[in-house]
Amino acid sequence: MTIDTGTPCFRTEDRAAVPVAAFNRPEDVLEAMLQSVQGGEMHVRPLMDLKESGRFARFVEIGLALRRAFRDPARRDYFIARMRPHLRFVIGVLPASIQRHGMLPQETAGPAPDALRLEDVGDAELQQWLVDDGSLIYGEMKRYELENYFDAIAPFVQPGGKMIDLGSGLGKVVMSAALALPFAQCTGVELLGYRHAMAQERLARLLELGQRGMAALAAVQAAPVPLQGMAQGAAQGVAQLAPPAPDAPLALPTGGTATVRHVLELGTRIRFIEQDMFQADVSDASLVFIYSTCFAPLMDALAAKLAREVQQGCLVSCTTFPLSHPAFRLLRHFPAQTIAWTGVFLYERVGAPDGLPLPPPAYLYAPDPDEWEARARAECAAYDIS
Ligand SMILES: C[S@@+](CC[C@H](N)C(=O)[O-])C[C@H]1O[C@@H](n2cnc3c(N)ncnc32)[C@H](O)[C@@H]1O
Repeated sequence: MTIDTGTPCFRTEDRAAVPVAAFNRPEDVLEAMLQSVQGGEMHVRPLMDLKESGRFARFVEIGLALRRAFRDPARRDYFIARMRPHLRFVIGVLPASIQRHGMLPQETAGPAPDALRLEDVGDAELQQWLVDDGSLIYGEMKRYELENYFDAIAPFVQPGGKMIDLGSGLGKVVMSAALALPFAQCTGVELLGYRHAMAQERLARLLELGQRGMAALAAVQAAPVPLQGMAQGAAQGVAQLAPPAPDAPLALPTGGTATVRHVLELGTRIRFIEQDMFQADVSDASLVFIYSTCFAPLMDALAAKLAREVQQGCLVSCTTFPLSHPAFRLLRHFPAQTIAWTGVFLYERVGAPDGLPLPPPAYLYAPDPDEWEARARAECAAYDIS
């Protein structure tokens, strides 16, 4: 099914994934590569370390103090009272990290005698903890949503530009964009080390698949090569055959045409950096992508950074929350349930914004405290009996 919101028509669900059975055309290789980067949202989140060092040491300490108060029915009122002033910074009802699926470590031997108490955590620190907790939540667009997104931005993308994903997770958007669109470079910037490492592993597998696919194509004049046999085929010498000519045409999923180089040289067009996005160099980006659904409290700071650092004409897209800054002109707004489950905004950096004041902070997300408390108490009660 498709939804027409003007141009183009958008998909509303993933088509059934038909694994690529044989590589007969470069487009088959491209499709197998796109299939290989799906599904990262289901990854198993590793627990942080009880003795976490560096940036996340204090995060773990405060998180454990908050979780102890949450889990203890006798301290529930205190937990609720501490949370109430900060609801604008909580994604959902209860912070992700203190729940069973959260990344905080278990205190199997009980709390250390000198463990931090929630009473000793100030409001400013608790608020920052909640911002960090929300921003580390993981999610990815589904494949059809990304396809819709790429179709929507394709008319604005200049071939040879550079895209950067701020908060790139396992790298799905970066790798998909490099495959689907004619970017010269796609960069992912991710704060969490394990996610950065997973993105790099996924990239290595993607590049290997591309090489095997291109090698197998060389043998196709004789007969299509079944995908299952390809690992052995490559090992036995298929890879020594000449791959398709680099200048042979390759149809991109977004409608444009590239050449086979698009796949052959993919490794030079993708990179992942383990870094705080606020430190990232965006000065030569032509598209900044931000899956900002859990970044509500960060939007003003992100807008200010981008206004200072991106070039005029640079595209910026974000999800769920707008970028409220006069340096950015809204080109398109795709409401929730059109190209994706949530809203998507596409902006262009205009003018010379230096010195422009930020508009007052918008209350992007402001739950009613009483409604929140009722839901929080219900979730706490469900936790107690589970
Ligand atoms: C919702 S996920 C989106 C992942 C990816 N962009 C995608 O759309 O598939 C947001 C990612 O941003 C990362 N993140 C949060 N704060 C960050 C920061 N300050 N710098 C870099 N990455 C950050 C999180 O760890 C998480 O992996």
